[in-house]
Amino acid sequence: MSEPTGDRVLVTGALGQIGTELVEALRAKHGDAAVIASDIRTVEGHPCVSKGPFAILDVTDTASVSRLCRDEGVTTIYHLAALLSATGEKNPELCRSVNVGGTVAVLKAAKACGCRVFVPSSIAVFGPDAPKHAPQNAPLNPTTVYGETKVEGEALGLEYWTLHGVDVRGLRYPGLVSYKAPAGGGTTDYAVEIFHAAVGSKHYQCFVRPDTKLPMMYMDDAIRATLMVMDAPATSLGSSRTGYNIDGFSFTAEELAAAIAQEVEGFSCDYVPDVRQTYADSWPDSVDGSIAKKEWGWSPAYDLHAMTRAMLNGLSD
Ligand code: NAD
Ligand code: SER
Repeated sequence: MSEPTGDRVLVTGALGQIGTELVEALRAKHGDAAVIASDIRTVEGHPCVSKGPFAILDVTDTASVSRLCRDEGVTTIYHLAALLSATGEKNPELCRSVNVGGTVAVLKAAKACGCRVFVPSSIAVFGPDAPKHAPQNAPLNPTTVYGETKVEGEALGLEYWTLHGVDVRGLRYPGLVSYKAPAGGGTTDYAVEIFHAAVGSKHYQCFVRPDTKLPMMYMDDAIRATLMVMDAPATSLGSSRTGYNIDGFSFTAEELAAAIAQEVEGFSCDYVPDVRQTYADSWPDSVDGSIAKKEWGWSPAYDLHAMTRAMLNGLSD
């Protein structure tokens, strides 16, 4: 473990797909005791709960968020608590309340306590009118409620930065692929579930069409990008600071199944699209991450085949 950095870090929604790995990385960087993992629920034996401080925290409870930040002397908040697209579209009211209400609660606490904040955005900020290779400054007209909450999160972050001087940063994560925690109710979950099926029954029924192509990223790259943007000097960040496009790689569902079949003999996949196809169809195929590259040096390390091998190795251990 590295020397403690003096930062006191709060992670909301820490038991989810990203939090499970981000808390581990932050504790390696700042020291176990300096990183408070929090979530609305707990999971017995989860490393975020057992290996360092953990708090039950509902991000829609503004007073509790502020109290925890003040009492614990928090200096930096990684705000991961949210409902993802598939869950969010089933319950739009709750999605708005958690994703927008929770972000406002975190930003208010950050303003009061002088914290820096990381708030993730998503490729879901784009709608069908964005170019299929989406530039940083493409129009943001999402057709999902989830996407609307992400556009609002970026705008709120900019408002707190320009009007109140709160140092808010964010990334438009692509669909994230990882094996340490289950995917949390998103449209891109098929790219995670397929690996669990590959090492289990060797068959996967995919809920999007074979030709569905989306921007994706392996979790190691996503965690690295998160730490990089938070470490970047404030002077290098421009007006995209709360929602940088970051490129990973893109593949169709069929290309993913083929990459797995190359490694797993007898693996097969069939396709029965459901409502999540509509959300996937409204998002771009790929994103242009050149502004993230220019302003803070972003460059992905994983491609489809490196990710496939890492996922299969991770799930087989
Ligand atoms: P996840 O669903 O796996 O985890 C979210 C966590 O938030 C869960 O543990 C849940 O219990 C918690 N939570 C829900 N409501 C809460 C509340 N009211 N208070 C406190 N905690 C609450 O999600 P994730 O994949 O880890 O995503 C984290 C963030 O990254 C979200 O903002 C999401 O929109 C964004 N993002 C994720 C992806 C991806 O592919 N995973 C892609 C783009 C953006
Ligand atoms: N991966 C996320 C989802 O599918 C996109 O933000 O909901």
